[in-house]
Amino acid sequence: MANRKITSIDDLSAKDIQSIAEKAIKFKNSKKRILENKPKNIFNLFLEPSTRTTISFELASKNLGYNSININFEKSSLSKGESFNDTMDTLMSMKPDVLIIRDKNNFSPMEIGKRSKIPVINAGDGTNEHPTQALLDYCVIREIFKKKKIKIGICGDIKHSRVAHSNIKLLSKLGYEIHIIAPTYFLDRKDLKKINNKIIFHKNLNSLKELDILMMLRVQKERIPKGAKNMMSSFKKEFCLQNKHLLNKPYLMHPGPVNRNIEISDDVLDNYPKSLILKQVEMGVFLRMACLQYILK
Ligand code: CP
Repeated sequence: MANRKITSIDDLSAKDIQSIAEKAIKFKNSKKRILENKPKNIFNLFLEPSTRTTISFELASKNLGYNSININFEKSSLSKGESFNDTMDTLMSMKPDVLIIRDKNNFSPMEIGKRSKIPVINAGDGTNEHPTQALLDYCVIREIFKKKKIKIGICGDIKHSRVAHSNIKLLSKLGYEIHIIAPTYFLDRKDLKKINNKIIFHKNLNSLKELDILMMLRVQKERIPKGAKNMMSSFKKEFCLQNKHLLNKPYLMHPGPVNRNIEISDDVLDNYPKSLILKQVEMGVFLRMACLQYILK
C-alpha cells in the first residue's frame, strides 16, 4: 500500500476529512495526555516564515510523545547554496517517520512525495494549498454547526491564497454553499470554477446578508508583484472589513496572521464578539495531532 500523505485536500476523501475532524475534536475535549507507544521522528522543514503552523505541529508531535525536529532555511545548508533536491535526499536518508514542509514553490511537497516513500504533510506550498489549515478551519466550523449545511463566504486575496484554495476544495467536497468576495485582480475565477461550478461570486462586502460564516484572508503581500501598490490601497479602501459589513452577525474567521486595517479593521479585530480567529489557532494543535495519527496509521 502506498504511504499516506496530506499534500493536498485531493489526497483525502470526505470520509477521511470527517474522521480526522472527529479525532481532532476528541483530542480537544480530552483531558488526558495521549502518548503513543512508539516514538516517531517528525521533521518540520519550514522554508517560509510561520508562527501558528510550525508551533502547532511541534506541540502536536510532543503531545503524542513524538520527537519533533525543526529545520528552517537559515539553519539549513540551503542557505549555503545546497540544492533543494540534495537537501531533500539528505533529510530522507535520515529516515524521518513524517516530513512536514512549507515552501514558497507550488507543488514541492508533491514532488518530494514522488521521490520518497516517507509520508509528507504540506504545511503550505506557494499559492497552491495549505490543507491542514483548511482541515482545522473545518473542525472549528463543525464544532459550532455540526454537519448543518451553512453558507460560507471567503473574502480577499483568493488568487494568491493557499488557504483559500484548500478551503474551497474541502468545503466543495463536503457540499457547502460557497460565496467568494474579491476584486478581479485577486481572483482566479476560471480555476475556482473547475473545482466547483456552483460558487457564487460577489464584487463587494455590501450584500452578504445570508452568510453564516465570513472567512477573511491575508493579503499575500510577498506574492504580489512589486509596483502593485495601487492594488493594495484600492483593496484596503473597498474590502477592509468594518462593523457596517457585519450587520447580520456572521461568525468571523481568518487564518492569520492578520494585516490590521488592510483586510480587517482594528475595531472589528479587537471587539467583534463572534470572532473565531483564536479558536482557529487553538484547534490547530488538535487537528495536527489528528493528522499525524492519520498519516502514521
Ligand atoms: N495560518 C498560518 O499558516 O499561519 P502561520 O504562517 O503563522 O503558520
